[in-house]
Amino acid sequence: MTRYIKKALIIGITGQDGSYLADFLIEKGYQVHGIIRRSSSFNTGRIEHIYQDPHEEDKKLVLHYGDLSDGSSLHNIIKNVSPDEVYNLGAQSHVRVSFDIPEYTVDVDALGTLRLLNAVKDSGLPIRFYQAGSSEMFGKVLETPQKETTPFNPQSPYACAKVFSHFICKNYRDSYKMFIANGILFNHESPRRGKTFVTKKVTEGLVNILLGKQEILYLGNLDSKRDWGYAKDYVEAMWFMLQQDMPDDYVIATGETHSVRELVEYTASLLGYEIEWKGNGLEEIGFDKKSGRELIAIDSKYYRPAEVDLLLGDATKAKEKLGWETKTKFKDLILLMVQEEFKEKGLDFNEYIK
Ligand code: NAP
Ligand code: GDD
Repeated sequence: MTRYIKKALIIGITGQDGSYLADFLIEKGYQVHGIIRRSSSFNTGRIEHIYQDPHEEDKKLVLHYGDLSDGSSLHNIIKNVSPDEVYNLGAQSHVRVSFDIPEYTVDVDALGTLRLLNAVKDSGLPIRFYQAGSSEMFGKVLETPQKETTPFNPQSPYACAKVFSHFICKNYRDSYKMFIANGILFNHESPRRGKTFVTKKVTEGLVNILLGKQEILYLGNLDSKRDWGYAKDYVEAMWFMLQQDMPDDYVIATGETHSVRELVEYTASLLGYEIEWKGNGLEEIGFDKKSGRELIAIDSKYYRPAEVDLLLGDATKAKEKLGWETKTKFKDLILLMVQEEFKEKGLDFNEYIK
């Protein structure tokens, strides 16, 4: 019988962060339980490498069907698993899509958190709870850089739902003396990032163009700026937050900001292109200076009804209190994602680019 040091329950284990957090906790000696949604196609691709046959005894990874929109499933799972730590990473996490499905987004990203908090509270267990808050809550920013004391000014149904979750977590922490930590995480990316988020879309798209698998890459707003970090670094911060004596809220960021335009230019440069821009607004195109080939065009469907123009985080508190700081800066992150694009296609980046 394996002796696990603790039991953790991850909601959103099939997502980018959930999969890295599961790797990290298993490595630490935890037994990891994860909630997965019923889906007509497999949604466990990101955890395939740690997946175990359900018939095996005493597994390090145990999956349960459940959903943040179904409070009874959450109650049952918490009761049956009795976890030491709960990480709420489950969400409809796409900001643009939250404008298309606002009610669903709020149900899952706001009420879902409340359902989960109630399940934890009603269990009576001394569970430590992590809530995946977002820099999107700062929205149209009222201060730069953004830190824990910067007021929220959300600009999307997604961000409004996350603000609710942030405050209901604080309220349950104060009212019921529960151990609840709110992470306020700035954008974090990786080769496991969903394909419709901009870093993955740009790295995958430009590599595909280079390999002749795609003609052109359509994007939206090129001038918004984000503080992009590496998801693998960021899940460690989540764990640190739950190991403190007292629960608190923390900004997690790199302290660097770059525009989508810079992201495109840097990714292209790694592939031997030199991007130049021509035109304005919807007519703007990005082309390779050497060959004249058009690589980037604009499609208005990727614009948002309200945009967050600039995010830049100050993670001083996390450094001082948690001893956490980012290990991977923008250029290393993009290089890592480009290299992985080649690897996934059975190619070696260094060989190919020579
Ligand atoms: P992600 O890749 O989109 O993963 C989201 C996870 O939530 C998936 O496992 C998804 O399941 C699950 N989920 C969706 N709806 C659910 C529901 N109704 N019930 C239960 N689970 C549900 O997101 P991520 O990038 O890993 O982000 C993790 C969390 O951090 C999210 O809450 C996100 O909003 C937040 N966050 C992310 C960032 C970032 O830059 N990545 C920054 C700040 C905060 P399926 O696989 O079945 O879809
Ligand atoms: N997705 C996408 N697709 N974004 C584009 C595109 C495009 O074709 N073109 C330009 N952008 C711009 C968006 O308008 C936005 O300003 C920026 O690129 C980043 O978009 P995303 O990668 O979709 O991320 P996000 O910042 O909206 O949201 C992510 O980070 C948040 C933390 O700040 C998500 O992971 C959220 O769940 C997370 O909370």
